[in-house]
Amino acid sequence: MGGSGLPFDQNKSRLKVLAVCGTRPDALKMAPVILELKKHLDEVDLSIAVSGQHREMLEQVLRTFELVPDHNLDIMSARQTLAQITTRALEGLDEIMREVQPGLVLAQGDTTTTFVASLAAFYNKIPFGHVEAGLRTDNKYDPFPEEINRRLTGVIADIHFAPTERARQCLLREGIRSEDIVVTGNTVIDALLSVAGRDYVFEDSNVRKALSAERPILVTAHRRENWGEPMRNICAAIKEIALSRPEVSFVFPVHKNPIVRDIVFPELANLDRVVLIEPPDYVPFVHLMKSAYLILTDSGGVQEEAPSLGKPVLVLRKTTERPEGVEAGNAKLVGTDTQNIVREVERLLEDKTAYNTMAHMANPYGDGRAAERIWQAIATRFIS
Ligand code: UD1
Repeated sequence: MGGSGLPFDQNKSRLKVLAVCGTRPDALKMAPVILELKKHLDEVDLSIAVSGQHREMLEQVLRTFELVPDHNLDIMSARQTLAQITTRALEGLDEIMREVQPGLVLAQGDTTTTFVASLAAFYNKIPFGHVEAGLRTDNKYDPFPEEINRRLTGVIADIHFAPTERARQCLLREGIRSEDIVVTGNTVIDALLSVAGRDYVFEDSNVRKALSAERPILVTAHRRENWGEPMRNICAAIKEIALSRPEVSFVFPVHKNPIVRDIVFPELANLDRVVLIEPPDYVPFVHLMKSAYLILTDSGGVQEEAPSLGKPVLVLRKTTERPEGVEAGNAKLVGTDTQNIVREVERLLEDKTAYNTMAHMANPYGDGRAAERIWQAIATRFIS
């Protein structure tokens, strides 16, 4: 929504940027942007605000990329509702923005922290830049609440950093002006490539044993649409495969959310060949992806990372806002029906051709230079 009469010309000589994150993916995908901005501190005053929507999982990513927040709202509470996240983060971010008076606010993706950051920026008449703009399923409730979070953020944003051409097309379709959209690639690929070369050895001997199996499978599942029955069905599929396939082992980092843990632990703890672990830091997580024969996930970020590592991904969802991985042949939507998951995994275990078709390297989400392009677009638009 450019041309909105906002103060683009103010502070042109030195731009005050407030980068906002709240969850693990926010921090991961904003880290390359923040690190890029730090290279230009002669032109930029940078502040980092975290809502603390996540506590431990956010902390992990901040540590990995050596980021120290200037402001931390620490809003997380156990079993927090969407309304609680929204209201607490809105009040807190509003206060920070009034204090810092940034010339530009940046946030990424579709979390509630991101939507709230855009809303607080709007209330304070501060331009907002949306990193990872334009992803859509066109299904209001799937993913919930992310589809609406990103659409609302898109309505407010002044500059849209679209990761792919498809995302740009989605924004154009919604009436966003083409001069307000920059196709950058996804910053998660910058983050991935910055650590992919690092090796890692797990201290936990159960993980080491699982990774030395003939066919290690990495699993992650946390999405709201999958809470309850779908999550139980996913666990049932894992159990069935683990019991029938001695060549397979599962490593399942279990999200900190108690709603997820209350299902996964009773269903899968104490099974041979299923190793449940705490969510690891990013470097060991990338190591798990690299070591996997295939990946089962409902995560958006993992769908983006896996093709760059040449790993087949079976997506535990009915829809995806990231069809580029499916088009590139690396990903397949399998939903959450137990027998369907079992069938699809068995196919990739038995049919070498089917496996090889999916296990090729592709980079549909970016080339590792997204943050650089975002910086260039910011400099062109906001700094004289
Ligand atoms: C959030 C995002 C989702 C993103 C996901 C990545 C929203 C609405 N959802 O979902 O888009 O894919 O993060 O993980 O913004 N918890 C902890 N420690 C942590 C993190 C979470 O204990 O470090 C627990 C808390 O009990 C919290 C619960 O997990 O109440 C759920 O966290 P919440 O941010 O509400 O939703 P996520 O499912 O993590």
